[in-house]
Order: sequence, then structure tokens, then C-alpha cells
Amino acid sequence: MCGIIAYAGHRPAVPLVLEGLRRLEYRGYDSSGVCFEQGGDLCVIRASGKLQELEDKLSGMQIFLATTGMGHTRWATHGAPTESNAHPHRSFRGGLCLVHNGIIENYQECKNELLRKGVSFQSETDTEVLVNCVEDECGPGLSNLEAFARALSKAQGAYAVAMMARDEPGTIYAARQSAPLLLGIGTGENFVASDIPAFLSYTRDVVFLEDGEIVRMTASSWEVFSLEDLRPVSKNIQRIEWDMQAAQKGGYKHFMLKEIFEQPRALADCMAGRLDSRRMEANVPELMDAEPPERLRIVACGTSYHAGLWAMPLLEEWAGIPCTVEIASEFRYRKPLLSRDEAVLVISQSGETADTIAALRIARAGGARVLALCNVLGSSIAREADLVLYTQAGPEISVASTKALSTQMMALTLMALHWGRVRGSVNEDTRHKAVSALLALPDQLQSLLPGLQSEARSLAQRYAHAKGMFFLGRGQSYPLALEGALKVKELAYIHAEGYASGEMKHGPIALIEPDFPSFFLAPHDALFAKTKSNLEEVCARSGPVIVLTNPQRQGMELRDGTQWILPEAWGPLAGFFLLPALQLFSYEAASSLGKDVDQPRNLAKSVTVE
Ligand code: F6R
Repeated sequence: MCGIIAYAGHRPAVPLVLEGLRRLEYRGYDSSGVCFEQGGDLCVIRASGKLQELEDKLSGMQIFLATTGMGHTRWATHGAPTESNAHPHRSFRGGLCLVHNGIIENYQECKNELLRKGVSFQSETDTEVLVNCVEDECGPGLSNLEAFARALSKAQGAYAVAMMARDEPGTIYAARQSAPLLLGIGTGENFVASDIPAFLSYTRDVVFLEDGEIVRMTASSWEVFSLEDLRPVSKNIQRIEWDMQAAQKGGYKHFMLKEIFEQPRALADCMAGRLDSRRMEANVPELMDAEPPERLRIVACGTSYHAGLWAMPLLEEWAGIPCTVEIASEFRYRKPLLSRDEAVLVISQSGETADTIAALRIARAGGARVLALCNVLGSSIAREADLVLYTQAGPEISVASTKALSTQMMALTLMALHWGRVRGSVNEDTRHKAVSALLALPDQLQSLLPGLQSEARSLAQRYAHAKGMFFLGRGQSYPLALEGALKVKELAYIHAEGYASGEMKHGPIALIEPDFPSFFLAPHDALFAKTKSNLEEVCARSGPVIVLTNPQRQGMELRDGTQWILPEAWGPLAGFFLLPALQLFSYEAASSLGKDVDQPRNLAKSVTVE
């Protein structure tokens, strides 16, 4: 996830672009850059690190003459967050510059073809490949618009791009496919950006672009075309009434809510290039050259630890790899016996959690191969691991982890399928069912989320004043019960315990009374009957229950409680629906209690102390 802004108008473009990038910094902040017209050429200035680094670089420069320019703030996906990987990227012959948000899935094939034609590359990015694909299409009799459209129609994946051409001063090209991009329409000036706040100080008139649309814009004109055949598309201008703060959150009240609703996109990004829908198999390029381990030890903290617990049965059943899961702060102070055939997989959204880093170093010192599952590119854990897999969730701003967990679950599912295929331990029927269910997930979740939120709101209003609550589940629902309890604790400050349902009778059931609700995760799986017995034990002691279950189980006898019916997902994938329901319940509970949802008390996004 990156931020794009492009401008054609009458004001100095570079300061305006920098101001826009500031407002988009939440979308990515590991490097940035600008491109502007100067002396008949395109001038590109880039810097790694925060936007301030770029501003410092530009401060002594003559930047006030250009009235057309574009900028980018990066959330790295291909290549480390260095200056050479920062955008804009210039084409080999120098005539074009391009900024890009998203992932070009077939970039390697395109790059190989360009290499054969003698193009050389300065960066590791898919963006530099794309700008060269456009240049490759340029030729006599073909306009820049046509070359741009030809190159984009060959690109697979998700993108939002903006482009400037040396031979067409004052003009910006842009296009989108499954990544946000919109036009801001001013008087004698026009804008293209990933999000409204980037230009909201200058205009409130917006044109929302659709997938497969291309834009050509100057200071005094803007046109939208269909990518397929360059037919003009007529668009409506809409007036935005939001204030700046609301706009930065994309209209959502909190970053947490926005990030919960971003999960369908994040899951699709995580799968991109790793699931082969023709062969119906997982093919994780990062794992291609690595032997599957004989044993796997997963080490992580907090929500990331829950991802490991959730994936353990898949890694064992599908990949046939014995697996254990440990809390990093415990692992680091034991003297674990590690063997050479064992790999340690550390999971961390931030890649900077102190205990997880320490665990990684202990594992390495003990001779184990270290794999990492991270979200933040170039983070300490990503740098120190022998092999890293990125979750591709995009920046997570809210302190409470949401889309980071669902993408960790997705990446671990893909790992289990990949290794299962390599080891021949997952049968074809399971593989087929898993892949088709995974491919369908983003769309299913997209349509499910609004309904989940309204159900979560009414349940939260009923139960948010409880003095405490249980979250209970079996099998893969158990780690999600732990996660549900963690979320309610950290956001709503309600004391909540997550338990394996079967453990209730061993002590915790003593807490059950009429004002102590239990939240049962009871999807329609092989363990449903067992969970239901535990549910009845709670009901028999006058404990109110909330049962998160599937349509087959509708109409269960409940003395005091509510059934929350979710559509059934295929087998082990039920968690991808249960999890957002739990996230929304905690979000709504915290909101209804007036808590600071995005920055809960005493917490930090990245726990860099032990
Ligand atoms: C809870 C939460 C934390 C983190 C934990 C590990 O919502 O966000 O429990 O999961 O601090 O952080 P990472 O994954 O960055 O190592």
C-alpha cells in the first residue's frame, strides 16, 4: 500500500505534492520521491526513510518553477526500502517516469523479456519493470496514451499508477486496477491521488475512477478512457463534504474499522502470485528454493502468536510437519533444544518486537534455520531471518492488530498447502477444495462485513457492560477465542478470558453466573457436538451465551443468549469469517463504552522493549 499524488496546474507543483504526500503518509512511509518538469526534462528526487528526508533533500533546490509534478510515499513490497527502490522510477531511455501502488504479479516474466531486449534495471521493483514496459510499447505513430494502455493491459495484478512523459509537458497519465485512485477537479488545476486528503485543501470536487479506466489530465482538461479500447468514458463529479480528519480514515470513524474493512483486499494481496488458480495449487515463490523443514517451531507474541496456534493443525495435517507454537518471551529464557532438521518460524506484524527478535537470535545461535512471517518490509526480523515471507497487509495504523492477523493466517495456510504439495502429504481433493475456497474468500468477506458490523453493534450494546466474559472454542476456534478475549481486553478494558471449551470444567466454570456472558465459537465442524455440550453446561448454570455458528445450527435451544449466524466457509477456513466478527464485536464494545479505539491505554503498536 503506497500513496500517490500527481498535479497539473498553475501553482508550484513540488510543495503541493509534498503537502499531499504528508496527508498520504499513513499509506506508507519507508521511502518517498517526487518527479517534476525542469529545463525540458523530468527531474526525479527520492529518499529512503520518512518524508522529512525527502523534504530535507529538496530544501536547497530550485523547485518552484514546475507546475506539473507527481510524488509517492512507499510501503515496500518488492525490494528493500532504499533510495534506489523508491518511486518515481524512470524508464531505461529516460523519457518516462512512473509511480505505482500495488503489485504487478507477472513482473518477472515482463522483466525477463525486457532484459532480453537489452533493458537494464536500477532497482528491484516491479514498478521499474512497468515503466519500461510502457517505454517498450512507445513507437512511431503511437501516442503516449496508447503505449500506456497497451503496457497496462499486459500487466496482471493490482495497481494504481501515475506517469509523466518528457515529450508531453504539462500532462499526467494515470490508471487503476484494484487499487484506489481518484481525480480532484479544480479551476485551472487538476489532481490525481490515492486518497482524498491529498488534495482536499484545494478542491472538494472528485471523480472516482473504476478498475480498467485510464486518465489523461492537464491543468485545463481531464479525460477518462476505457483501458480496453480507449473509448472515452463519461464520469460524474461528486462533491465531498467530509472534513480532513474523516477523509484520512477513508470516511471510517477509526483506523481500526478501516483496517477491518480492508481485510478482503489484504487477503487478496497476500494470495497474489502465491496461488496458481489454473493448477489449483499453492506455489509460494519465497519457499521455492527452500526444503520443507522436518519439524517446525513457531515463536511469536500476542496476536501473532494466535496466528501460529491457528495454523498448527494445518501445518501438521496438510504439510505433515510436526509443529509447536511458543510465546517468544518464554522461549527466549528457556534453553530450548534445537535440532538441525528443525526450522523456527517467527511471526511478527511489525518485525520489531523485542522478544521475537531475541527468540530469532537464540534460534539462529542454536543452529536452526529461521523463517520469518512479517508485514513490515525491511524490518529487523525481516533482515535477520534466513528467509522471509511478507503478509502484504499494508500499513496497520490502529494499535490493535486486525488485518495483520488475517493475512498471517492466509500466509500460513499457503505455506501449509505449498509444503503439503512438495512433500506429497496433502491429497488432491483437499488441495482443490482449499484453493477454490481461498480464491472465493475476499469477495465473500467483502459482502459479509457490513452485516457483521450491525450484528456486532447490537450484541456489543447488550453485553459491553459485563464485568467479565469468556471466549470459548475448540480446535482452530480455540486460538480465535484467545484472540477474541485479547481484543475485548485491550480495546474495551473488559476482563475477558479465552479458553479451550474442554478446559471449562477444570476450574473456570466456577465463574459462570447470570451476568457473566460466554462467547462460544461453534462453527459447523467436526468438533461442533463437543462444543455444544460445553455450551449446555454453561446454559445450565444460568450463564448467558453468544454463539457464533453457521446456518445448519440455527434454532439451537438457548436459555439466555443469542445466536450469531455466519455463512459457512469450507472446513478449516471458517476462521476467516469468525475473526472479523470478533474484531467487530470488540470494536463496537469499545466504541459504545467511549474508549480510544485506535490508541488504547498503556499500549504501543510496536513493542520494542521486553
Ligand atoms: C494485539 C496486538 C499485539 C501484537 C504483539 C506482537 O492487538 O497487536 O498483541 O500482536 O505485540 O506484535 P508483532 O506482531 O508486531 O510482533
